[in-house]
Amino acid sequence: MRAIEAREGGGPDVLGLVELPDPEVGPGEIVVAVTAAGVNRADLLQRQGHYPPPPGASPVIGLEVSGHVAALGDGVQGWQVGDPCVALLAGGGYAEQVVVPAGQVIPPPPGPSLVQAAGVAEVAATVVSNLDLAHLSAGEVFLVHGGAGGIGSFAIQYAHALGATVIATAGSEDKLAYCRTAGADHALSYRDDWPAAVRAVAPDGVDVVLDSMGAAYLGDHVELLATEGRLVVIGLQGGSRGTLDLATLLRKRAVVTATSLRPRPPVEKAAICRALVERVWPLLADGTLRLPPQTTFPLADAAAAHAHLESGDNLGKVVLVVRG
Ligand SMILES: NC(=O)c1ccc[n+]([C@@H]2O[C@H](COP(=O)([O-])OP(=O)(O)OC[C@H]3O[C@@H](n4cnc5c(N)ncnc54)[C@H](OP(=O)(O)O)[C@@H]3O)[C@@H](O)[C@H]2O)c1
Repeated sequence: MRAIEAREGGGPDVLGLVELPDPEVGPGEIVVAVTAAGVNRADLLQRQGHYPPPPGASPVIGLEVSGHVAALGDGVQGWQVGDPCVALLAGGGYAEQVVVPAGQVIPPPPGPSLVQAAGVAEVAATVVSNLDLAHLSAGEVFLVHGGAGGIGSFAIQYAHALGATVIATAGSEDKLAYCRTAGADHALSYRDDWPAAVRAVAPDGVDVVLDSMGAAYLGDHVELLATEGRLVVIGLQGGSRGTLDLATLLRKRAVVTATSLRPRPPVEKAAICRALVERVWPLLADGTLRLPPQTTFPLADAAAAHAHLESGDNLGKVVLVVRG
C-alpha cells in the first residue's frame, strides 16, 4: 500500500510517499480501506519527533480515518466487507489501509461525505470524553481556546448544545467571526488581555476550561475558575511546566486534571466511540452540530498539509484525501 513516512524528525519536508506492506488483520480487528485521513496538531509533534506512537501502534502518522471495511478478523461481528466507516486510531492513518481494534470502528455520521467525515472522530472523541469528565452541564460557563481550530470548533458547538454559556478565543478577526457563527456567546482575541475580557463577561468565574495551552495559561485559568470549577488540560502548546497556586484551588474547591486520548486502552476508546454514535451522530443528523470548514490535500501532499496547519492560517480541519 501507499503510505506517508517521516524519514526523520523535522519539518514538513521529511514526509514522503512510500510503499509499505499491507496490514494483516488479527482477531478482533478490522482493516479499513482508507478514503481520507484527518490531520491533527499531534501529528505535527509526531513528525518533529516529539510524540512517539504508543507501544504496539503503527509508526505511520494519523489518528483518524474514514473509509470502507476491507477485512474482518476472527470474532468481529456487526460489520461486512464494504461497509462505510470512520475509525479512531492510535496511529497509521496516512495510508491506503489501516488495521484497527473493531471497537474503534463506527458507522460514519449520517449526512456528510466520507471525506468530510474523516476529520470528526478524533476531535469529537476528545471533546466529548473531556466534557464528560468535567461534567459540563446546562447553565455553566465554558471556556475553550482556539475556537476556530479542529478541537475548538467542535467544542464550541458541543458545549452550546449542552446548554452552556460558551466563551471562545481566537487569533484573528475572521476566526473570531467563525467562533460566533459556531455558537460562541463571547468570542475574544487571545492577542489582547483575554483574562480581563473573560472576567468581564463571566464575573462569577468559569465552570469548565478545556485547555490546549498548558503552562502559559495555567495561572490565569486557575484565577478564572469559579467555585468548584474544573480545568481540563488536553494540550501543551504553551509548555508543560508551570506554577500551580494550590491556595487558590483549595479556596475554590477546584479541580485541575490532564488527559490524553491516544494512549488510552482500546476498551476505553471503544466506549468513547459508542458515545459518539449514540450522542454526537444524532446531533450531526438533525443539524444541531455542523462539521467545521475543511481544507483538503491529496495524500501525496501530506507535507503541504502539515505546513498549512503549522502556519496558523487554517480554519477548521485539514484532511488528506487518500482515494477518490
Ligand atoms: N489530549 C488529547 O487527547 C488531545 C486530542 C486532540 C488534540 N489535543 C490537543 O488539542 C490542541 C488543539 O488541537 P487541534 O487539532 O484542534 O489543533 P489546531 O486545529 O491546530 O488548533 C490549534 C489552536 O490553537 C490556537 N492557539 C494558538 N496559539 C494560541 C494562544 N496563544 N492562545 C490561545 N489559542 C491559541 C489556534 O488559534 P488561532 O488559529 O485562532 O490562532 C488554533 O485554533 C492541540 O494542543 C492538540 O495537541 C489533545
